[in-house]
Amino acid sequence: MKKILLSLIIIGSLGLSGCGRRHALKQELKSALAVAVEQEKAQAVRMEGIEGKLPRTFENGEVKVDSPYNWVSGFFPGSLWLLYEYTGDEQLRTYADEFTRRLEVLKDYKGTHDLGFMIFCSYGNAYRLTGDPYYKSVIEQAAESLASRFNETVGCIRSWNTGRKENPELDFMVIIDNMMNLELLFEATKLTGDSTFCRVALSHADRTLKEQFRPDGSCFHVVDYDPQDGTVRSRQTAQGYADSSAWSRGQAWAIYGYTVCYRETGRQIYLDQALKTFNFMKNHPHMPADRVPYWDMDAPGIPNEPRDASSATVIASALYEISTFDVPQAEEYRTYADSIMSSLTSPDYTAAPGTNGLFLLMHSVGSIPHNSEIDVPLNYADYYYMEALKRRNDIDKASNK
Ligand code: GLY
Repeated sequence: MKKILLSLIIIGSLGLSGCGRRHALKQELKSALAVAVEQEKAQAVRMEGIEGKLPRTFENGEVKVDSPYNWVSGFFPGSLWLLYEYTGDEQLRTYADEFTRRLEVLKDYKGTHDLGFMIFCSYGNAYRLTGDPYYKSVIEQAAESLASRFNETVGCIRSWNTGRKENPELDFMVIIDNMMNLELLFEATKLTGDSTFCRVALSHADRTLKEQFRPDGSCFHVVDYDPQDGTVRSRQTAQGYADSSAWSRGQAWAIYGYTVCYRETGRQIYLDQALKTFNFMKNHPHMPADRVPYWDMDAPGIPNEPRDASSATVIASALYEISTFDVPQAEEYRTYADSIMSSLTSPDYTAAPGTNGLFLLMHSVGSIPHNSEIDVPLNYADYYYMEALKRRNDIDKASNK
C-alpha cells in the first residue's frame, strides 16, 4: 500500500512538472514570437532602402545582403509571411508581399535546383495565405523551371552546375539539400493537375533514398552521378568535415525532406527514413545536452567546435510535423522538438532585440570548409525557427479546441 501511494505521489508530481514545463515553454515561445515581430519589422524597414536585395547574415558588424538568385533569397519574405500568419498584422503582409515580389525574376531561372527553397518559402506561403492567383502563376512557372533539371537516366534533379569545369555537361551532382526543393513540385501538381511534377519529385526521392544514405541512417552530402548511364561515380562532402562524416544540416534536410514526402504520399518508407536519420542524430554520442548540433557530428575538435542552430531549427520544425501524424511515439517527437526550442529561445541563442543585425538566432554555420559564415546568424535558421514556433502554436491551438 505504502509503495502504491509513493508511486502515485511520484506520478502526480511528474505530471504536474510536465504541465508546468509545457506552460513555461508556451510563455517562452510567445515572447520569442514577439521578439521576432519586432526584429523582422525593423529588418524590413532597413531592407526597403536597399533595392532588389534580401538580407542573408550579419558578419563583422555588417548585414550581408544578396540578390534574388542566391539560394537563401526566399527566407526573409517567407519569415514575414509566417509572422503575418501568426499576428494578422497588415503591415507584415505588406512587407511580405513587397519582398516576395523581388523574387519574381526567378520564375524562368533554370540555373539552380534551389528554386524550391526560394519560391516555396516566399510565393508558396504567399499563395497559401492569400489565394492570390498572381502568386500561383509564379509557383507554377518556377516548378516548370525546376523540373527542367530532371534527368530520366539518373532519375534525379541536378543540383549543382559546377565540378568538371572543362566539361560541365558531364557533371551531375546531387546534394541532400535538394530534398527540400521537392515540396514545390508536389504543390505544382496539386495546382495544375499535371502529375509530371509529382513523378519527378518521387523519382528524385526514391533514387536519393537508395544512394545517399548509410546503413546507420546518416546521409552523404553529395552524390556524383554519370548523367549518361546514371551510375554513381562518387559520394562526397562539400560543406561537411569529411566524405564519411555526418554534416548536421545535411541530416536535418534529410529528416525534413522525407517528412514532406511522407505527408504528400503516405508512403511509409519515407517516414521510416526521416525517423532513422532523426534517431541517428538523437542517439549520436556527440549530440550536446541542449540538442543544438555541432556543425558536423564528426568534427575533430568536439566539444570545441561551433554549433549550428540552423540544423536544430530544421529538425524541430520537422519533428513538430511528424508529431501531428498518426505515429507511435508522436508525443516523444514533440517533446524532443520542445527541448530544442527551449534551448533556442534562451539568451544562449536568441539575440536581444536591436542586435545581431536584426536576425533572431545566433550561432549557425554556413560552410566551414569554405571558411564562410562561421558562428553567425543565418536567414534560414530564422525561417525554420519561425516555422517551428508557428507549428508549435498550431498544435496548441488544435489541442485547445
Ligand atoms: N543548401 C546549402 C546549405 O545548406 O548550406
